[in-house]
This record gives sequence, C-alpha cells and structure tokens, in this order.
Amino acid sequence: MISINKVDQLYGGTQILWGLNLEIVPGSITCIMGRNGVGKTTLLKAIMGLLPIKSGEITMEGETLNKQSAEKRAYSGIGYVPQGRDIFPMLTVEENLRIGLPVRGKRTKDSPKDIPEKIFELFPVLKDMLHRRGGDLSGGQQQQLAIGRALVLEPKVLILDEPNEGIQPNIVKQIGDVILKLNAEEGLTVILVEQKLGFARRVGKEFRLMEKGRIVAADKMENLNDSLIKQYLAV
Ligand SMILES: Nc1ncnc2c1ncn2[C@@H]1O[C@H](COP(=O)(O)OP(=O)(O)OP(=O)(O)O)[C@@H](O)[C@H]1O
Ligand SMILES: [Mg+2]
Repeated sequence: MISINKVDQLYGGTQILWGLNLEIVPGSITCIMGRNGVGKTTLLKAIMGLLPIKSGEITMEGETLNKQSAEKRAYSGIGYVPQGRDIFPMLTVEENLRIGLPVRGKRTKDSPKDIPEKIFELFPVLKDMLHRRGGDLSGGQQQQLAIGRALVLEPKVLILDEPNEGIQPNIVKQIGDVILKLNAEEGLTVILVEQKLGFARRVGKEFRLMEKGRIVAADKMENLNDSLIKQYLAV
C-alpha cells in the first residue's frame, strides 16, 4: 500500500532519517514506536509530504509520491492527524469538519454538501458541540475533532501521530474503538505513532521500532517482547 524505500531526510545540516525502509500492508494497523526524538513525527510528515526528503522514494499503490504536495496526497487518500492536533480554535466544530469536504469532493468525485453522518456516529460528542468553537473543547474532544476532520475525506490510509498524548482514559478507549471499528468494517489502513504500550498492544496489529532514524525491529504486535521494550522503548 505504502512503501518507503531508503529514505534520507535532513533538517538543515542534521540528518534525521537514515535510509529508512518501511512497508505498510493494506488493511493493517501498524504501530510505529520509539523513544522521543528518534524521528517518528519526521517520518509521518515525510509520508504526508509536509517535509521534503533528500533521497529515497515513497510510493502509494505503486505510484511515487515524491513530487506530490501534501494536498495532492490528501486527494490520493492519505488522512493525517498531526501530533498535538491542530484544529482551528476560532472556527466552530462544524466549520472545522467542513474543511475536509472540498478535498473529499475532488477525491471521490461526489461532492457531498454535508458532513457524513458516520462521523457523528463515531464521535457523538461532535454533534452535541457542532456550534461550539474548536478552541473551547477539551483536549480529548479536540482530538476527536481532529480525527473526525481527517475521516471526512474518507481516507484509504489514516495516519495518527500520538493521538492519546495528554488525554483521559475514557476518550483514549473511544479513540481505540473507532480505529478498530474502521479497520475491521471498512478495511481502513492505519499508521499509528504511539508511545503508550497498552494502547499499542490493544489497537496495533504490527509494530515497527525506530531508533536514530531507522526501523530497527519489525514484527506482529503479539511478538513485541520485554527485551525489545527494554532495548528500544524503556527510558
Ligand atoms: N523543524 C525542525 N528543525 C530542526 N530539527 C528538528 C525539527 N523538527 C524536529 N527536529 C529534530 O528531529 C529529531 C526527530 O524529531 P521528531 O519530531 O521526528 O521525533 P519524534 O520521534 O516524533 O519525537 P517525540 O516522541 O518527542 O514526538 C529530533 O532531534 C528533533 O529535535
Ligand atoms: Mg513526535
């Protein structure tokens, strides 16, 4: 589905990603894990086209994405929920959700006038708060809004960067349920950066461990053992 081949990326003179290889299988939930600063967010931004790569190739369904803008990649079906969820605080929940509609219209050729009802079935709180300003929602509600906004485009692949950072357990549970439901019922492919081991184990099907800008271990989630955790995740 998405292939990342020998990708190098630099910020100024500092190399962050080093010949990184990663294969995302359609219908999988792949959890990318690793300590702070290993390059997880950088990798997701490179996939989304928010950062240029120096060398290597990123493809989706066999087509190279290297020269495509982030906007074009969204049209191609990549949904992205950034770390720290940047919703528009001054816009209402409804306005935040509507932002995805024109992209979806371009993508699927039907131009829906309304936010798909499905979003409100997944996150009922968004319906209750439709006219409230995004910035007035709690952190957990803002995260649900950020995920809802990405889902408005009906992505083929959903990329989530630490969706549970600083969020209370009942909302973490709901977010996990939504990811599992979309994956099971619609075959949505998910790339998830997650540091919380419990959540990663519950939701992830595959894990990829990162260290110093490389993938250093890859397996099914049930094979994430204590020695790998100690070596690559424990602080
Ligand atoms: N805009 C930037 N300019 C320069 N260096 C950056 C920039 N953004 C990130 N870095 C550096 O790149 C490295 C990787 O950062 P990145 O955000 O990808 O890590 P991460 O694995 O997502 O960490 P975290 O778990 O803290 O979110 C870090 O050393 C970081 O300081
Ligand atoms: Mg990060």
